[in-house]
Amino acid sequence: MKLLQISTLQKFKELQYISQKHKLLVPPHFFDTKSSKHSLQEIHDMWNVLEIATIQPKHNSLYIHIPYCMKRCSFCMYDSKIRRNDNITPYIDRIIKEFNFWSDNINTPIDSFYIGGGTPSIMSVLNIKHLFNSLSEKLSFCNNSSRTFELSPDTINMEKLYELGETFINRISLGIQSMDENVLRNANRPITSPQKIRQIINIAKEISFYDINIDLMVGLNGQTTTNVESSVKQIIELAPLSVTIYSYRDVHNISEWKHENRILEINKQLLSAYDIFKKYGWEHASGNLDTEYNIFYSPEKRKKLIRHKTSIDTLSNLNLFGLGNHAIGFNPSLAYKCDSFSDDFDKNEKRYIVYKHTPIQQMELAICNMLYCNNMQIDRNLFYDSFGCNFEDVFEKELEELQSINRIIETPYGYKFINNSKYEAAAIQMFFWDKKFLQQYK
Ligand SMILES: C[S@@+](CC[C@H](N)C(=O)[O-])C[C@H]1O[C@@H](n2cnc3c(N)ncnc32)[C@H](O)[C@@H]1O
Ligand code: SF4
Repeated sequence: MKLLQISTLQKFKELQYISQKHKLLVPPHFFDTKSSKHSLQEIHDMWNVLEIATIQPKHNSLYIHIPYCMKRCSFCMYDSKIRRNDNITPYIDRIIKEFNFWSDNINTPIDSFYIGGGTPSIMSVLNIKHLFNSLSEKLSFCNNSSRTFELSPDTINMEKLYELGETFINRISLGIQSMDENVLRNANRPITSPQKIRQIINIAKEISFYDINIDLMVGLNGQTTTNVESSVKQIIELAPLSVTIYSYRDVHNISEWKHENRILEINKQLLSAYDIFKKYGWEHASGNLDTEYNIFYSPEKRKKLIRHKTSIDTLSNLNLFGLGNHAIGFNPSLAYKCDSFSDDFDKNEKRYIVYKHTPIQQMELAICNMLYCNNMQIDRNLFYDSFGCNFEDVFEKELEELQSINRIIETPYGYKFINNSKYEAAAIQMFFWDKKFLQQYK
């Protein structure tokens, strides 16, 4: 029996939704296994105690979450609350205290820094200065590291851009979503004129932000193939280095997926965007109709061959420090998520959900990450390097089972799952966590 029968498809779509709702890096096992609440001090004490000595994370990343926005867009799937920028200072102070608390553990050089949200550009110039001065004192970065700051057009201004130009940030990601006023109005999103967007991008380039990404969306209320095409063309004219197109997911309403017409419409809009990018010589760098986003590289980016590291390389060997409300952090042996909104720093308050990984779970987690982030491929050399044993030896039965239902093939580099779809990735993830799950589909 096929794994992807229509009747099971819905189930996989739901899994995908759930995974997205809790952020991609969190495998389904997180929702099923028991977790416990801990304080930051307790996590700190547990952090370096790896349960198996063979995994030594090679990469260090730092993520800072700014969970505040001036307004809530009706489509948004992220955790954020409305707050005006002049009220952000206590939160920034908390982040700095949290950073200082971790700073001995945060191994530098860092190869990926990301400040996202919410809307980081809600910060005032003074707060940007204050935060980055405090971080820079203790951080160093690898060559070619990516250091991103997320902004929205209504909260950024020239002064803030110039201030950001003084920091170590080398990449900005600007959320535009659509150039159509009605679509933005429907979504309760502030409307920014095309002139202002052009100005932001031109000044960012002047300052030195060479690597500029723009986020667009498809499937929003009021979007049509015509206005998606028009938005894409207008954005291409602004010449960012990359564009990320998100397919709208209503993560609060999982049954949304049952409306096939809606999915068809989203896919139609996405395909029309594919065509425009192709016509203008842009490369489709990652994603497909099933993934939550698709990334396109400009001809300029292709020329310079700037590529972000594929996540396989980073995810399986990663120490990620997440700072702030709702941020996630993990290393191969444990993961944590801050579960409360607060501006106070208290290292002894139990506000973090912690998941500890046994050695076998660490392996399963690495597989899940590879499936999610490496185009459904399992790299056997990377597995061996990480764990000191062969993937085939540990997961012999699972491989036999997947091969028997034609879901996996062997390639010179490792195993590839045949259907390159997030639904199937979600299902196979469940399989590696809970063997009984796949049994029911045989
Ligand atoms: C944290 S937000 C970006 C920064 C900034 N707050 C803004 O809105 O411009 C990251 C991106 O996620 C995408 N996004 C938000 N909600 C989504 C949803 N429900 N489905 C798909 N993509 C979504 C949007 O494209 C957004 O730019
Ligand atoms: S501004 Fe960005 S993070 Fe805030 S609600 Fe809108 S899409 Fe979400």
